[in-house]
Amino acid sequence: TYVIALPCVDVTDKACLEVCPVECIYEGERMLYIHPDECIDCGACEPECPVEAITFETDTPEEWQHFTAVNAEFFTGLDSPGSGAKRGRTGRDHPFVAELPLQRK
Ligand code: F3S
Ligand code: F3S
Repeated sequence: TYVIALPCVDVTDKACLEVCPVECIYEGERMLYIHPDECIDCGACEPECPVEAITFETDTPEEWQHFTAVNAEFFTGLDSPGSGAKRGRTGRDHPFVAELPLQRK
């Protein structure tokens, strides 16, 4: 699966949302998350992100590798209609992300 990592936090450019053919990218409050069971590994989102937050899970820089779990765990207990566009803004974040200091410069 592809994974969204730290650079997305407090940026949320959302260019990735426009290109995902299966709408498996979901809007949290401070970042977006890729549903690991819905992502088809097409790679379309990766070059669209202006801050290079998106990587294939095995290519994620070491310091951000915990974001594979952060993306997956975000969906625990979240009702998912199988489409981030249909789900809309969730208004929540993974606890790890919620507790990060403000990332915007
Ligand atoms: Fe975030 Fe980049 Fe998408 S900043 S919202 S992963 S385009
Ligand atoms: Fe979607 Fe393809 Fe990225 S399925 S999340 S655009 S790798």
